[in-house]
Amino acid sequence: MSPAIDLRSDTVTLPTPGMRKAMARAKVGDSRRGEDPSVRALEEHAASLFGKEAGMFLPSGTMGNLCAVAVWTRPGDVIVASSASHIAGRESPAVSHMASVAIIGIDGPGGVFTREEVASAIALAPRRTESKVRLVTVENTHNAGGGTVFPLKELKRIRAMCGKASIPLHMDGSRIFNASVATGVSLASYGKVSNSLMFCLSKGLGAPVGSVLIGSRDFLKEARGVSLRIGGGMRQAGIVAAGGLYALKNHVERLAEDHENARKLAAGLGEIPGVVVINAPVDTNIVLFRWKMPSMGLPAFRELLGEHGVLLDDRGFPLFRAVTHLGVGEKDISRVLRALREVFSGDGSASLYPRRLPQPSAS
Ligand SMILES: Cc1ncc(COP(=O)(O)O)c(C=O)c1O
Repeated sequence: MSPAIDLRSDTVTLPTPGMRKAMARAKVGDSRRGEDPSVRALEEHAASLFGKEAGMFLPSGTMGNLCAVAVWTRPGDVIVASSASHIAGRESPAVSHMASVAIIGIDGPGGVFTREEVASAIALAPRRTESKVRLVTVENTHNAGGGTVFPLKELKRIRAMCGKASIPLHMDGSRIFNASVATGVSLASYGKVSNSLMFCLSKGLGAPVGSVLIGSRDFLKEARGVSLRIGGGMRQAGIVAAGGLYALKNHVERLAEDHENARKLAAGLGEIPGVVVINAPVDTNIVLFRWKMPSMGLPAFRELLGEHGVLLDDRGFPLFRAVTHLGVGEKDISRVLRALREVFSGDGSASLYPRRLPQPSAS
């Protein structure tokens, strides 16, 4: 059988041959001492793309967000985030433990919220928590919301209001390049509305490791201190940074193909009876969909899908996420749709019962 088509996430991407070459040739040094030329080149390039003064290469997006929260807040403070955001979800134990802040979540369609909702969260925080909001975070694009782009107009309104209240705005821009390619909004515009911004190299951009946190020189000086205290200091990290720099120079425009493939996938899924696409029209590279009346349980479904060579992200069966990326081509989308049509419409193989009869034990 041909290799599996892995739509679980854009983090499953493998380095391309050109990227591997760039990594093999990378000049390196002790990055913790600021002596790795490839890390420095990546940080400078990243900062300049967003019109910011400085950047810091980090092992993960989680660490980038944590450093930003720790710099902008003090223990006991409150931060505002979308309720379904990565910061308020998977990262919340780390953020609450290591930065000792509480999170007020805002529910909004696709993870997007308005200036008025932020203003009301800021006003209510002292009554609800006896503490003040010291940081507002936005996730752009929003992962759990279905790759939703946060509209620039609303970001500007939120930033203007936060600016008046002296509250910084941090953008979790793990997939900010998807947002920029989808809308044509420049990276500099996203940089301008944020006091700090983190983006990931290891998602749709296809690099094996790393994220970059950017902001002013003063902010980065503090953030570097936090990252070192939590073990983020790296040595000859230029080998992986070179992969990231290659991605920034070669893998950005092609994100439009991923968006096109996601739209094709959503359109095909929308035609399968019993399947509902939740985030149509799809903004970027993420499709969320639900199987309305499952005719089998998750283990049988997984097995059947596995036989077709398709991997999906289970978001609480029967809700799924499919993420397109540089390892998935147009032909793969047709193959996925053929498989899902068969599985969801129950042609032949769907059953309430386990697909294989249990074997009696010998004893
Ligand atoms: C929106 C968002 N923010 C942050 C992260 C964390 O990035 P990392 O896995 O590099 O820690 C992710 C990872 O999936 C994400 O989707």
